[in-house]
Amino acid sequence: MKKFVFFMVLCAFNSFADDVADGRAKADTACALCHGPQGVATMPGAPNLAGQQAIYLSEQLKNYRSGKRQHEKMSYIAKPLTDAEIEQLAAWYSAIKVTVEAP
Ligand code: HEC
Repeated sequence: MKKFVFFMVLCAFNSFADDVADGRAKADTACALCHGPQGVATMPGAPNLAGQQAIYLSEQLKNYRSGKRQHEKMSYIAKPLTDAEIEQLAAWYSAIKVTVEAP
């Protein structure tokens, strides 16, 4: 039983790590231009995504895709994304560690 539980945990971890890697690869080509290679925005007007909660990121992407949230560029970008791709992108950006420092 213990071995089985360990195996399950390992599987869950592996699939999360795979999501992060797949999300990173996708983000490098489709998102980094505006949101930065590590999720800190490089284009004026684009928000930082690094360290954001995965649940928030996937919800926003689904809202752009469905039209519930509208934006000239993001609605167009999110339209062809599958649920799996959205989970991978959310996993990647949420996995980036950020540290904050008050001024
Ligand atoms: C051409 C520039 C551009 C590209 C490329 C781009 N984005 Fe965006 N993104 C924006 C801008 C600008 C906003 C702010 C939109 C708004 O006001 O709703 C935004 C908003 C978002 C938000 C909402 C953030 C929040 O704080 O609510 C998410 C999530 C997001 N983008 C993810 C992505 C992902 C994932 C990709 C790649 C598949 C991507 N974006 C590609 C410009 C871009």
